[in-house]
Amino acid sequence: MGLVTTTDMFKKAYKGGYAIGAFNVNNMEIVQGITEAAGELKSPLILQVSAGARKYANHTYLVKLVEAALIENDIPIALHLDHGADFEICKSCIDGGFTSVMIDGSHHSFNDNVELTKKVVEYAHSKGVVVEGELGQLAGIEDDVKVSAADASYTRPEEVEEFVDRTGVDSLAIAIGTSHGAFKFKPGQKPQLRFDILEEITKRIPGFPIVLHGASSVSQDYVKIIQENGGNLADAIGIPEDMLRQAARSAVCKINIDSDLRLAMTAGVRQVLTQNPAIFDPRDYLKVGRQNVKDVVAHKIVDVLGSNGKA
Ligand code: G3H
Ligand code: 13P
Ligand code: ZN
Repeated sequence: MGLVTTTDMFKKAYKGGYAIGAFNVNNMEIVQGITEAAGELKSPLILQVSAGARKYANHTYLVKLVEAALIENDIPIALHLDHGADFEICKSCIDGGFTSVMIDGSHHSFNDNVELTKKVVEYAHSKGVVVEGELGQLAGIEDDVKVSAADASYTRPEEVEEFVDRTGVDSLAIAIGTSHGAFKFKPGQKPQLRFDILEEITKRIPGFPIVLHGASSVSQDYVKIIQENGGNLADAIGIPEDMLRQAARSAVCKINIDSDLRLAMTAGVRQVLTQNPAIFDPRDYLKVGRQNVKDVVAHKIVDVLGSNGKA
C-alpha cells in the first residue's frame, strides 16, 4: 500500500469514537519504533515531520524511511507536515511526496490566517493532498517559535465555521489548554482542558475532524529514569491520559505526540550509557531507545487512542 491521505482515517475515527496518533519522526529508530508498534496492532498511523526534522534529517531521507516502513508494515500511513509556517514549505512537502500538510497560520490575524490557509488548500487539493489549519494558539515551543503561557489563547468557537468555510481545510487544530513540550502545567497546578470549548466547536461544525496538538502525557516513569541517570527534567508534567481518552472519543480525530517519544528514546539511551560506561557501539543504546518508543506507541494506540485493529 502507498501513502494515504487522512480523509478515510478521519471519517472512520469520527464515526468509531477513536483517534489516530500523529507521531513526530526525526530518524530511523523513531520511524521503526512507531511503525513496528502500529503494524503489530493493525492501527492506521500519521507520521509527521516538522521543519526542524527536515533540517536535521533531510526531506528525502525521511520520505524514504517512511516508504521503507510502508513496505515492512501492512497498515495505512499518512505522511504529514507538522506546523508548516508558510506556503513555500507546504508546497515543497506537497511536491515532495507528503499526503497531508499543516499550515499553521495561528500566529497571524484571523483574515491573514484565512488567506494563507486558503492558498495552501487550493494548491494542496489540486495535487490530492489534504490540509490541516489552526485557530487559537498553544503555549510552548515549536521550532524557533516560543509562545508563552500568557500569549497562548483558546480557540474562539464563533470563528470556526467561517474559517472552515472560507479556507476549505480538511481538519482543524484547536487550542483548549494543551501545550507543546514536556512542561505543560506548573507543579501544583491542576491540569485542565476546556472540553466545553471543544463541545461548542463540535456543535458549530458537526462531523468535522478536530486535531489536538501538545498531547503528550509525559510518563513519570521515563522522567524518573532520566532523572536517575543524570538528566534534568524535574517538574515535567503532561496531559492526564484520561483527558486524552475523552478527547479521542469526541470529534478529535488526530492526537499529536512528540515529547513522549523524545522522553522514551532519551530514557533508554541515558540508562544504557550510565549503567554501561564502556559501551560505544551506537546500536547498543539506540536499540533500547527504539524499543521504548515502540512500547510508548503501543500503549498510546491500545490504552489511549483506541485505534488498534482499525487498519
Ligand atoms: O510541535 C512541535 C513538535 O514537537 C516538533 O518539534 O519543531 O522541535 O521538531 P520540533
Ligand atoms: P507534544 O510536545 O505534547 O508531544 O506535542 C507535539 C505536537 O503537537 C506536534 O505538533
Ligand atoms: Zn503541534
